[in-house]
Amino acid sequence: MDIKKLVRPELVTMNGYAPIEPPEVLSQQTELPAEKVIKLDGNENPYGCSPKVYQALATYPYYHNYPDPEQRELRKALEEYTGLGRQHIVCGMGSDDLIDLILRLFLKPGDEVINCPPTFGMYPFSTDVCGGRVVDVPRTEDFALGMAGIKKALTKRTKVIFVASPNNPTGNTTPEKEIMELVDTGRIVVVDEAYCEFSNATVANSVPSYPNLIVLRTFSKWAGLAGLRIGYGFFPIEIANYLMKIKQPYNANAAAQAAVLASLADIEYLRLNVMKIVMERGRLFGKVKELGWLKPSPSKANFILCSLSYSPPCHSEGAKRPKNLAREIWQQLRRRGIFVRYFDTPRLRDCLRISVGRPEDTDVLVKALKEVKHD
Ligand SMILES: Cc1ncc(COP(=O)(O)O)c(C=O)c1O
Repeated sequence: MDIKKLVRPELVTMNGYAPIEPPEVLSQQTELPAEKVIKLDGNENPYGCSPKVYQALATYPYYHNYPDPEQRELRKALEEYTGLGRQHIVCGMGSDDLIDLILRLFLKPGDEVINCPPTFGMYPFSTDVCGGRVVDVPRTEDFALGMAGIKKALTKRTKVIFVASPNNPTGNTTPEKEIMELVDTGRIVVVDEAYCEFSNATVANSVPSYPNLIVLRTFSKWAGLAGLRIGYGFFPIEIANYLMKIKQPYNANAAAQAAVLASLADIEYLRLNVMKIVMERGRLFGKVKELGWLKPSPSKANFILCSLSYSPPCHSEGAKRPKNLAREIWQQLRRRGIFVRYFDTPRLRDCLRISVGRPEDTDVLVKALKEVKHD
């Protein structure tokens, strides 16, 4: 039986998402003990989650029951945390789930989605899976949105525009004025604020005033809950109601809901960790810059995009710069148990994205970068 003939043709040829691996897999792949793994590739929280989460998960009594499909307690707690009414809030299995859900709500086959690369890979991925057409409008040299390009790219079939702010992997935010200009185009504008707690820039307060502005948030980054998969969004009430109708009824699982409630009850602890990460971001930026051959981009998130302005010191005199030096350096770091992200797209070919770790992680990374060689 030829299964391929039964699969939607566009899914046979589509590129999959390139995900990162968990520490235990990295440890097996590199044959390094897990405690030697320095994981700076997933923009995860190096301080982990609140200790109160472990307590809450250990004592939660209802794992044998389905969780609340209306996410009542969760949305109430999020209303208190964010100041936006719970009727605007919908939670999902990570913001990835909400990206998919939004596209499932709005896209008919062939409808267009504006994507502004370099940016988060789940926007084109989910557009493809949902049968939409990705329209790429590249960012400018300094990674700002190509506003004129976006407006030129709009057609009758343009349904959704995605803007990550701060953007992954470039770390810059988009000014509110530009977001509002996009809202004025009448398309669904999704502002992905996954890193908002590190930037303190948000347009969430505008959501109740516009019928087409959506803001997404997550507990993966600032609250250290990436493994539990829980995110949320602010939606105009009409859109929130549709999403509540079409979402999988139990998409926010019981453990994730309990973990969020425990996290929000320990907000001071989590804010302190965010502050530590923001401080370390500044130190990492300075240390990388000092190397002289890696150019860090200013970042409002918990990672820094670094481009290789020229080659690091070579082993042998006259050695040629390899075609993909970023990959080469990524590999050398990997052998030492340090995991960062490199990208295989033309625009990011000479770039590494380094997540901000603890000060001791920065020290080990910088020492390794000083020793990096190629020939
Ligand atoms: C911009 C952006 N949005 C969303 C996500 C995914 O968040 P979640 O873990 O909530 O699915 C990421 C994760 O890297 C991201 O960089």
